[in-house]
Amino acid sequence: MADKPLRSRKSYGKTDKDGFIHRSWIKATGLPDHAFDGRPIIGIANTWSELVTCQVGLRDLAEYVKRGVWEAGGVPVEFPAMSLPETQMRPTAMLFRNLLAMEVEESIRANPIDGVVLLGGCDKTTPGLLMGAASVDLPAIFVSSGPMLNGKFQGRDLGSGTDVWRFSEAVRAGEISLETFMAAESAMSRSAGVCNTMGTASTMASLTEALGIALPMNAALPAVDSRRKVLAHMSGRRIVELVKADIKPSDIMTRAAFENAILMHAAIGGSTNAVVHLLALAGRLGVPLSLDDFDALGREVPLLVNLMPSGRFLMEDFCYAGGAPAVARELGDLYRRDALTVSGQTQGEIADRAEVWNREVIAPRSSPFGPNSGLWVLRGNLCPRGAILKPSAASPNLLIHRGRAVVFETIEDYHARIDDPDLEVEASSILVLKGCGPKGYPGMPEVGNMGLPPKLLAKGVTDMVRISDARMSGTAYGTVILHVSPEAEDGGPLALVRSGDEIVFDGPARRLDLLVDQAELDARQAAWEAARPASPHQRGWYRLYVETVQQADLGADLDFLVGRSSADVERESH
Ligand code: FES
Repeated sequence: MADKPLRSRKSYGKTDKDGFIHRSWIKATGLPDHAFDGRPIIGIANTWSELVTCQVGLRDLAEYVKRGVWEAGGVPVEFPAMSLPETQMRPTAMLFRNLLAMEVEESIRANPIDGVVLLGGCDKTTPGLLMGAASVDLPAIFVSSGPMLNGKFQGRDLGSGTDVWRFSEAVRAGEISLETFMAAESAMSRSAGVCNTMGTASTMASLTEALGIALPMNAALPAVDSRRKVLAHMSGRRIVELVKADIKPSDIMTRAAFENAILMHAAIGGSTNAVVHLLALAGRLGVPLSLDDFDALGREVPLLVNLMPSGRFLMEDFCYAGGAPAVARELGDLYRRDALTVSGQTQGEIADRAEVWNREVIAPRSSPFGPNSGLWVLRGNLCPRGAILKPSAASPNLLIHRGRAVVFETIEDYHARIDDPDLEVEASSILVLKGCGPKGYPGMPEVGNMGLPPKLLAKGVTDMVRISDARMSGTAYGTVILHVSPEAEDGGPLALVRSGDEIVFDGPARRLDLLVDQAELDARQAAWEAARPASPHQRGWYRLYVETVQQADLGADLDFLVGRSSADVERESH
């Protein structure tokens, strides 16, 4: 046990008026006297909400965390945190990731707790909770809500999101009826839990294991599997031990841990959204991490996991095949085996105990499902600070491409014109969407995988190069260039592209260039600056966000939230 006195004793260990106040009011929740005899007080930050099936099981799961905390000699105290339902929030849940991070940071810091269990699941909750906890740097452990069961419809498996995009294109191409499309809704999402594809939620859950901040199998155990309750129980036990040993997020989420996260991300064909989340999290911890690390580290890693959207299976199958520990085993000596995890084991020890039970789902490195599957980081005069592409989800024939831009100034402009039979577009065109970056939307929504024009779909076109400052759903696919930095709203060159301009994309060379001469670009820039309207976001969170959010290449955190706050608050409340 560490000699460091428990932080909660500053409130509950006092015998004066302040101690009376702190104890008396919380005892009224039903806690006995001995809860305050020097046991660790463990916060449980719970993003449970009925607005999001992804986290609707967390109310139940928190009870199992509490069992583990009591069993290990701690005292659990649950508190709510924003739920961020990806499929419900407007204009986009990403606008509120940093707000959740702020809420969690201040909730942990202001309350007399010694450690925290973070309960999340849906896409933005995992990074938001981790970012907040990292800034306070009290001992912490993450428990995910787990994936929903495989979708089942008309004799086949349905993948969350991925099959929505497929069905949506099929309806627009006249290949399936609207009735069939609507009937698939209830068959796709049929239990509590996060999306059952390797979308952002399951990517981030897999990365909690690679970062070492969650117990093994945290990502893959289905939300309704009884073993997830056991994992929650064991996480409750472990957080008490972490507090006693004073093992903090900064001891776990080191540079080596982030390297493991990038390696895991490549091996599972993970969501492009992980880039902004890992960059923001590293920024909170002071771990040096850049966009280029994703490309450099990912080059060594082939696609080892055959899950939608890059492959064919779903998260239930991933669980039964061995989950993230089995992938870590296949990564072998690429993985940073000495990295410590909250389980008390190193990553190497966890990998050595893992096995692959289904080679159709998890492949060996000697015979992978695809070539190098890490993200490509592009640079050029269209994206001076970077843009990304997920090659495992793209069409090989479009990875080197030259075409004329068809520009949409906003997402509303896109919706208004994309179905127009007179739209001047051909299969070789490049669709360009502006105004969807962190400041522009605001919040950087998942609209980068723009649906194709129906008149091309009808001709059998299934993919086109698309470029934007937006993100895309982790469940989506296509030759989609995302996160263009700086974004159009921030005065990036993307703002200057006009329909008819030629663009050259050379993926293997990591280049993205606009073939317009500099004098013309300078003139366009001057005109753009002169016509720039005042921001419509003049109050509240929106204003704070657009005034302080960083660009995607830095993780889209607020500039004043980068770094740590510490856990100390000296002033009393009375
Ligand atoms: Fe919550 Fe997909 S909508 S995980």
